[in-house]
Amino acid sequence: MKLRSVRGTHDIFGKEIDKFNLISNIVSRNAALKNFKEIQTPIFEFSNLFAKPLGEQSDVVLKEMYSFQDRNNDFLTLRPEYTTPMIRAAITNNLLNELPLKIFGIGPMFRRERPQKGRYRQFNQINFETLGTNNFLADVELISLSKNILKELLPKSKLKLHINSLGDKNNLIEYKKNLTKYFNEHKKKLSEESIKKIDTNPLRILDSKNEEDIVISQSSPKIYEYLSNDAKKDYEDLKRSLNLLEINFQEDPNLVRGLDYYCNTVFEYKSDNLGSQDTLLGGGRYDGLIKVLGGPDIPGIGWAAGIERITLLMDFEKKIGSTVHIALTNEKFTDYFLYLQKYLSEKRISYYWNYKYNLKKSFTKANTSFASYIIIIGENEFKGKFFTVKNLKTGEQKELELENISNHLNDKFK
Ligand code: HAM
Repeated sequence: MKLRSVRGTHDIFGKEIDKFNLISNIVSRNAALKNFKEIQTPIFEFSNLFAKPLGEQSDVVLKEMYSFQDRNNDFLTLRPEYTTPMIRAAITNNLLNELPLKIFGIGPMFRRERPQKGRYRQFNQINFETLGTNNFLADVELISLSKNILKELLPKSKLKLHINSLGDKNNLIEYKKNLTKYFNEHKKKLSEESIKKIDTNPLRILDSKNEEDIVISQSSPKIYEYLSNDAKKDYEDLKRSLNLLEINFQEDPNLVRGLDYYCNTVFEYKSDNLGSQDTLLGGGRYDGLIKVLGGPDIPGIGWAAGIERITLLMDFEKKIGSTVHIALTNEKFTDYFLYLQKYLSEKRISYYWNYKYNLKKSFTKANTSFASYIIIIGENEFKGKFFTVKNLKTGEQKELELENISNHLNDKFK
């Protein structure tokens, strides 16, 4: 059998892993600025954690979860998203004693979707949650945090923030009833996929990508007309604050999100350069979810962004490496080379040798790696007790004693 990775999974290496690490650093720094604490949860959980909160009729639960029975006959599921595991962890570790709880995490999620550009079966998410406040300023904080992170990672990309309010649970029930009625009246023109959702999950028809569904959805009842006064006020306050902070947004009455737990504010960042998988980041409020999972009756809000989708948009210039390459021309100089290695390690200077006693090959490797320096050890160096340090950018070459190498490199690296 030919060796291959599982469909929808991918190995991360080279430039891609550099991008991943950069994203992770930038996320952690921004999280610290706003006092979000990192949390890591296991990759699998008991299956019943997910079905009810995400929605028995949601695509994720209906067809995308990787679930299995282990040897004890426990039903387990690879986490398809991070919000429910994070809430589970907050409850089981008594983290909800002091509110609000502001947490974030980065890690792999698993959904058995049809793989395509920007869509994998194992993918990585950045995830932020604020638990325990219904103040709209928490919504503002999370949206502005998402903007700051995306702006730092993708300074040249044009991203669009879409927002909507789904109102509270009662508004939503009333709205869904009216949507079902409306779609039943226009059933003949809907796609087969959408017809199946009329009674079970009419909200999802609103974000169908089928052209005929889109036309029907354009004249469907709009959620805004069903919002309670409180929900309307929060939505207006949110929009005013975003304007004040100069965060551009676009109201999108058909933005409903794919998971069932949302209410009130929902939002997404989209890009025109990602093809059909154009949502980089999505989130919203989920009042009621924490209680459903067995915790106190407190509200929450959060968002998640797909790391793979971010890397697709990231420009990554080749950076001049700060690793010094070594060219060793003959095995005879091994001991002399070991002195150099010990010295460079002590000075915390990164170095690379290709295990080849060949000057030309060492130079080729140094040039293709964008190294800025190469240190040469040959007959002359060995006999004269010095090292030749060559700057590959300027061509300047110096004969230096061991103890002078660090200062010379440090001066130039700056
Ligand atoms: P979501 O919209 O399902 O929300 O996923 C968030 C982001 O994860 C998407 O916008 C996308 O960038 C990325 N993503 C989702 N599925 C895939 C996939 N198959 N391949 C690659 N990337 C993908 C959530 O997961 C919610 N838990 C977000 C949230 C947090 N809401 C409140 N708190």
